[in-house]
Amino acid sequence: MRTQVAIVGGGPAGLMLGRLLELRGIESVILEARDRGYVQQRVRAGVLEQATMDLMDEVGLGERMHAEGLVHEGVELRFAGESHRIALKELTGRAITIYGQQEVVKDLIGARLASGLPLYFEVSDVEVDVAGRVAFTHQDERHVLEADVIAGCDGFHGVCRPAIADVLTVYEREYPFGWMGILAEAAPSSDELIYAHHERGFALASLRSPRITRMYLQCEPGEEPWEDEAIWDELDRRFGMAVNRGPIFEKGVTPMRSFVVEPMQHERLFLAGDAAHIVPPTGAKGLNTAMADVYLLAHALEAFYQGDGSGLEAYSRVALERVWRVQHFSWWMTAMLHRFGSDDDFGLKLQLSQLRFTTTSVAQATALAENYAGMPFRATW
Ligand code: FAD
Ligand code: PHB
Repeated sequence: MRTQVAIVGGGPAGLMLGRLLELRGIESVILEARDRGYVQQRVRAGVLEQATMDLMDEVGLGERMHAEGLVHEGVELRFAGESHRIALKELTGRAITIYGQQEVVKDLIGARLASGLPLYFEVSDVEVDVAGRVAFTHQDERHVLEADVIAGCDGFHGVCRPAIADVLTVYEREYPFGWMGILAEAAPSSDELIYAHHERGFALASLRSPRITRMYLQCEPGEEPWEDEAIWDELDRRFGMAVNRGPIFEKGVTPMRSFVVEPMQHERLFLAGDAAHIVPPTGAKGLNTAMADVYLLAHALEAFYQGDGSGLEAYSRVALERVWRVQHFSWWMTAMLHRFGSDDDFGLKLQLSQLRFTTTSVAQATALAENYAGMPFRATW
């Protein structure tokens, strides 16, 4: 088997890269370890930056997002019993849209299958050779795919990053807490997202639709999800209000880490998305950063097939500039909003000072808004 670009991983990064290449007349094959149902149901991110929304429009898949997504022009910071709105749109001209990651994935898979381009689900034993070969098993048959370029879009637990571990430098920070997330059949308790600082720990109120609430609580890293009543009671405490309750139909605990590898490329293998970097979700950046990577990579590949390899050469350097901005913002939001140990009162006072500054200084609020609504995607190098 031969193709121009072998894409390992059919998550948001791999699927969007496939779509961007399709629109440029560049061939690709996408290999995904899981089945279609699993990938489409996996509950993860929910906030699309303006640039991600624009990208969905650019690739012709914005229709359902505009119909079902909810545009938010601000977010709320809640601390010390007070609520403060950060007016994203007013401060930056940009907004965010609430549209679940699995909806983005459904739209991308639908388009890929409709175009008849190769997307193999349930592949196993994937082996990557940086000279441009990917071996894999599909329906009990072993295949070798030869490619000009391999895009490693296989997430944090994939095989692409380990294949070049020898040449990578890892930058990492683990946090001493996790997030317990729920989805519930309940109307959202506020019009906009609430990021709540509380001495018992962080809480986040988000949503998926006018009838579905998504909420998170800071918890111990490896903790089992609590009973429903205990979760609702704790949410009430941390938000300082009685939140709308309803049947919880999904619960899980997510670990929190910051992680980057440099470089994001070796020989013919290019890493994108979670395969190369992870952020704690406090800045809502994981999915959006994956999109920024593949946007750049698609443009670099387009130039490559027109005889200019400079974009591929610059890919890692240019992508990492944005990756580190996002890393800083996600770390900063995490550090400002979470409880780092019940005895860290000095830390608590610093956080409250930072929150007060952020909600009273237009310059500081604008800095938050600019990062949160998201930096533009780059297609130049
Ligand atoms: P992924 O979505 O991980 O996709 C990688 C794909 O590769 C997967 O489909 C996987 O099955 C496949 N794969 C893995 N190994 C192989 C292999 N060997 N061969 C072929 N395919 C393979 N971000 C936020 O902004 N907000 C959130 O609330 C949030 N919650 C999250 C919760 C969890 C549990 C996790 C893990 C992540 C969360 N994120 C969140 C981060 C966000 O979802 C990711 O940044 C985003 O999914 C990155 O997309 P990706 O395509 O790079 O990787
Ligand atoms: C979500 O809705 O899942 C969500 C929103 C904002 C975040 C993280 C997750 O910062």
